Amino acid sequence: MPDQNPKQLHVNLFEMNCVSHITHGMWVHPDNNRHRFNDLSFWTELAQLLEHGALDAVFLADVIGAYDAFRGGPATALTEAVQIPSNDPLLVIPAMASVTRNLGFGATFSTTYEPPFAFARRMSTLDHLTKGRVAWNIVTSYLPNAARNFGHEDEVPHDHRYEIADEYLDVLYKLWEGSWDDDAVVLDREHRIYADPAKVRYIDHVGEHYKVKGPHLCQPSAQRTPLLYQATGSPAGIVFAGRHAEVVFTGGGTPEIVRRNIHEMREQARAQGRDPKGIKFIVGAGIITGRTDAEVQKKVEDYRRLLSVEGRLVHAQSGVDFTTYPRHVLVSELIERKVPGWEAIPPRFKPTQTVGEVLDQLAAITQGRHFVAGTPKVVADEIEKWLDVDGIDGINLLQYLSFDTARDFIELVVPELRRRGRFRESYRDGETLRERLFGAGQARLPADHFGARYRDPSRLREPAQPLRFAPSDASAHGPHTR
Ligand SMILES: Cc1cc2nc3c(=O)[nH]c(=O)nc-3n(C[C@H](O)[C@H](O)[C@H](O)COP(=O)(O)O)c2cc1C
Repeated sequence: MPDQNPKQLHVNLFEMNCVSHITHGMWVHPDNNRHRFNDLSFWTELAQLLEHGALDAVFLADVIGAYDAFRGGPATALTEAVQIPSNDPLLVIPAMASVTRNLGFGATFSTTYEPPFAFARRMSTLDHLTKGRVAWNIVTSYLPNAARNFGHEDEVPHDHRYEIADEYLDVLYKLWEGSWDDDAVVLDREHRIYADPAKVRYIDHVGEHYKVKGPHLCQPSAQRTPLLYQATGSPAGIVFAGRHAEVVFTGGGTPEIVRRNIHEMREQARAQGRDPKGIKFIVGAGIITGRTDAEVQKKVEDYRRLLSVEGRLVHAQSGVDFTTYPRHVLVSELIERKVPGWEAIPPRFKPTQTVGEVLDQLAAITQGRHFVAGTPKVVADEIEKWLDVDGIDGINLLQYLSFDTARDFIELVVPELRRRGRFRESYRDGETLRERLFGAGQARLPADHFGARYRDPSRLREPAQPLRFAPSDASAHGPHTR
């Protein structure tokens, strides 16, 4: 007897305010619109297309530095447009919100370099302007160049970045959840009272990294705390996500590994007093579809021909230029010979691999488990496995072409998923983004979430409970995008 209420798929379009985000090399395709990213019309057209398909959100990745490890500088990042030039992700959201009613907007912002008070205000402003449709992808930034853009000699060590991030979030929760009472705004024209001073307060945060007096400058918005996204795989990151994240970007090469990652993450949330179901899991997915197998194959060949190995080496921050060594050479030989950049070989290129295997891995159109090329039925079959076997809740849909990848998914795959009861027929009009993931009435952080404690203003005075991590080897933690 087929499941009457099968799990439905959440779909974010994976985006970045730049030319080449992940599918490096594809920008040269004549049908690609990436070069228009500086135009508002690019974003308003995209938003209207995604709202038409009733997708959950557009998720904007971001980095605040250049990839400059490959070939000893940013030159190849610039020629390949790998995340440079790039514009601020937060600044395209109001334009997209102005031409949509329900589409959500996830935006990335780093906790390591810019102080929390100003960021709290920006996100509250966006939550107001979008009527509760924003999410924040919490990152601590992994690029050495990012650190040097904000006055550091080198990267802040990995686990220390998470300790700073933990206090950063603590300050934000105090501002978003504890500084204004729900009914602080009285808007009483007769008595000339806009807000009741008795219901707005200083937060007086004094911590190891931040000192913030408050009050928050923004009155309460629909979600107050934006929906919290995070991607992690490290021990420190998982503990951090156990306290803070509501949506975790995960992955894994097999269903077993994906299920294990999800289980470990849920156990971490449980250990921190949260309902393990309070976290949703989303994977990066590559989907190439068409009306016929021939159409699909043509697209696959087209894309494979354009994908850039150099672009992917740049994104991997590879110190070694594998394109300059014979294919039969082992990675271990390059390490033994201490070739230029040998110290910065991304961990996913194993010493036992040959240069040829590394290059083939980089040239492959499939990057990871969650990739499918096929007609809508084939794609929907695969997605049902990801939902039911891997146990995921949704996907970040990678783009090969803007806007064709999204249009193909909306016109071809969404109808097939709907036929199977696997995708919403339409939005619940006016719902916040948190309610889209967790159900009607759940606009605010759940009561068991760490941040909800400040709804009781007396807890603003409580001693901090910082997360602490045993120092770990930072180099083990590289950038991984899926
Ligand atoms: C789907 C996904 C999206 C990510 N987006 C960004 C991003 O926009 N900016 C960024 O600096 N890091 C991004 N990352 C990297 C993560 O923030 C994080 O650095 C990485 O997952 C390693 O985390 P860990 O060191 O805790 O394992 C992303 C990772 C994934 C899997």
